[in-house]
Amino acid sequence: MRTQRTVLSGAALATLVLVAPAQAAPSAEAIARNCVVCHGPKEAGQLEIPKLANYPARKMVEMLTGFRDGQKEATIMNRIAKAFTDEQIQALAAHFAAQ
Ligand code: HEC
Repeated sequence: MRTQRTVLSGAALATLVLVAPAQAAPSAEAIARNCVVCHGPKEAGQLEIPKLANYPARKMVEMLTGFRDGQKEATIMNRIAKAFTDEQIQALAAHFAAQ
């Protein structure tokens, strides 16, 4: 009985540890799923919206912060980029550059 209880609370603790960071901030992978709706899947861009797979990380940081801070003209990315912190922009840039 005693052993069983220890195992159960150990599992509960592991679940908490795994879930907590995901709730604090969505991962780059989770955010990136929204980007490809417009930008198209890995292999292809979508009409005139550029594809993001292999997009140079430094340029993505420059573009997204530019859109967010109103320094770059945009129809929609200015609003989308407002949702992200510098850390999330860095994570997105690393995610797409590695595709
Ligand atoms: C609603 C559609 C839509 C979504 C969702 C979207 N984008 Fe865009 N993206 C665009 C459009 C349209 C442009 C062209 C600039 C503009 O008019 O806003 C663009 C431009 C860009 C550019 C500049 C490309 C270049 O080289 O000129 C980057 C980088 C980019 N988006 C990244 C992202 C990332 C990262 C996400 C997900 C967080 C995302 N986009 C989500 C529509 C979208």
